[in-house]
Amino acid sequence: MSALGMVKSSEFDLLAIRRDFPALHQKVHGKPLVYLDNAATTQKPKAVIDALLQFYSLDCSNVHRGVHVLSDRATKAYEGARMTVKQFINARSEREIVFVRGATEAINLVMNSFARPRVKSGDEILISALEHHSNIVPWQLLAEYTGSRLVVAPINDAGELIIEEFERRLSPQTALVAVAHVSNALGTVMPVREIVRMAHERNIPVLVDGAQAVAHAGVDVQELDCDFYAFSGHKVFGPTGIGVLYGREELLDGMPPYQAGGDMIRSVTFEKTTYNELPYKFEAGTPHIAGAIGLGAALEYVSRVGIRRTAAHERELLAYGTELLSAIPGLRILGTAREKVGVLSFVVDGVHPHDVGTVLDRDGIAVRTGHHCAQPVMNRFAVPATTRASLALYNSKAELDALAKGIHRVQKLFAA
Ligand SMILES: Cc1ncc(COP(=O)(O)O)c(C=O)c1O
Repeated sequence: MSALGMVKSSEFDLLAIRRDFPALHQKVHGKPLVYLDNAATTQKPKAVIDALLQFYSLDCSNVHRGVHVLSDRATKAYEGARMTVKQFINARSEREIVFVRGATEAINLVMNSFARPRVKSGDEILISALEHHSNIVPWQLLAEYTGSRLVVAPINDAGELIIEEFERRLSPQTALVAVAHVSNALGTVMPVREIVRMAHERNIPVLVDGAQAVAHAGVDVQELDCDFYAFSGHKVFGPTGIGVLYGREELLDGMPPYQAGGDMIRSVTFEKTTYNELPYKFEAGTPHIAGAIGLGAALEYVSRVGIRRTAAHERELLAYGTELLSAIPGLRILGTAREKVGVLSFVVDGVHPHDVGTVLDRDGIAVRTGHHCAQPVMNRFAVPATTRASLALYNSKAELDALAKGIHRVQKLFAA
């Protein structure tokens, strides 16, 4: 994310951007909605809603196998979305872009089709202590299947990976490194380029879980040099139920299919089936056509706004929010990494995060409370849960003011 450079967020037309998102203009409990739960899922711009409407009202058809106009339109839109994804993450080829349900499915695909056939008893999968459960549990399953072992690189008190400790854990037994690009619980940006360099020096492949990165930073898979990159559409202003697995072509080529059925085959007889070419080998059955088209529209939207402008705006918001919340007595922010995106995870003395979230909701403020599917991170900081406010390109300083005011109200209520 350091490659984003500095762009003044004054170049950013926040009001125009907010107008693009219909959901932001509603009241909740009689108060204007302040949506600060973007790490869970983002709101959708009109461009995405319109793309879905267009597909379902005019172009609805199945892809790849029709000779009629609607099928041709649907196929062009679906494959067009793949090209948009390819350009957005700078993959070498559209053959490297596999549509899946989301980051979770992408990681499970790599576990089942890449790791499982290769990994032997005694091998190790190296992850970080910052991972979301979806980049922990698949590797525990793999360990059960193969007799391999999960190895975890620790983080420091700021929530940063201790890179020397990470390197110390790379061993001749390490079969794969799997790390988040950005932590969902703390917002830490991981030194992915360095991680990949260290792993590749030892010929170890690297999977990057980019679920929390794509909406906030430019992702260039060639520059990162990673072998796999996983993300979900719904966290980058696209529909739910669609996501992407990027994989290096030569690796995907050598992997068996993840699921079997229609569309992933070239020919089928009862004696023998041959598989389709990339990426279709990994897209069994009717895909989430509308979802892919919506995701394409979302990435085009993000590109139009400009990822550098977005990052600059969010950086300014994060600095502002950090200062505001740090000034509240009895509130502690978890995750103070130097490289961080817009996540404010915090605990308030004497108030359970669930109560914080419930009171904030009465003010129309949507935050997430709980362990954020990252229980080991909570354990590391010895808390059961946090309240998390997570930012996106449409958030404003006024919304952070509302959050701070809401927290004061929480403290008053619970002090009584
Ligand atoms: C870092 C990270 N990885 C993976 C996931 C899983 O994403 P999904 O549930 O969309 O598959 C999430 C979702 O919160 C996440 O934050």
